[in-house]
Amino acid sequence: MDTNYSDKRISDSMEEALNKQMNAEAEQAQAYLALGVWADSNNYAGIAEFFYKHSEEEREHMFKFLEYINARGGTAKIGAIPAPRDNPTDLQSCIEDVWQHELDNSQKIYALVDKAMEEKDWATFNFMQWFVKEQIEEEALIDGLRDKFALASEDKGNNANFYSLDRDMQNAPQEAEIPRESKL
Ligand code: FEO
Repeated sequence: MDTNYSDKRISDSMEEALNKQMNAEAEQAQAYLALGVWADSNNYAGIAEFFYKHSEEEREHMFKFLEYINARGGTAKIGAIPAPRDNPTDLQSCIEDVWQHELDNSQKIYALVDKAMEEKDWATFNFMQWFVKEQIEEEALIDGLRDKFALASEDKGNNANFYSLDRDMQNAPQEAEIPRESKL
C-alpha cells in the first residue's frame, strides 16, 4: 500500500478513488433534486416526489462512502459538485437521463471493485458489494419506470395514462425487488 500513515488501512490512491465516488454520489443527489424540481414545475407531482425521495437515497450513499473512508483511517474530503445537466426537454428525456445516470454510476462502482481486487484490499472489496447489489436494484427501478412510461405512451394523446403514471410514482418503492431476492 502506498500509505504514509500506520493507522490508515486504505492506500492513498484508494482513498482518492473512494473520495471521488463519494462526491459522485453527492452529484447524483443534486441531479435527482434538479429533475424533481423540473418534474414539479411541469405538473408531474408524483414523479417529483419519487425523484426527491431518490435524491435522499443518493445522499445516504454519499454518507456510506464518507463513513467508510473515515473508518479505515482515511480522510473524507468534501469537494465541489458540478451543476446538474440542463433541464430535460420532456418526460421521456427526463427518464432517459436518469437511466443514463444509473448506468454510468454502475460503471464507476465496478471500477472501484476492480481496483479493490487489484490491490487485494478485501475490506474495500467487501464494502463495495453493497453498492454492486444497490446498482442492480437501482437499474431495475429505473428500467421499471421506463417500462411504465412506454406503456403510458402507447395510446398517444391519452393524458389519463400519464396522470396514472404520475400518481403511481408518488408512492412507488425506492427499492426494486431483484430476482435472487424474490421469495418464490
Ligand atoms: Fe448512488 Fe443511484 O446510485
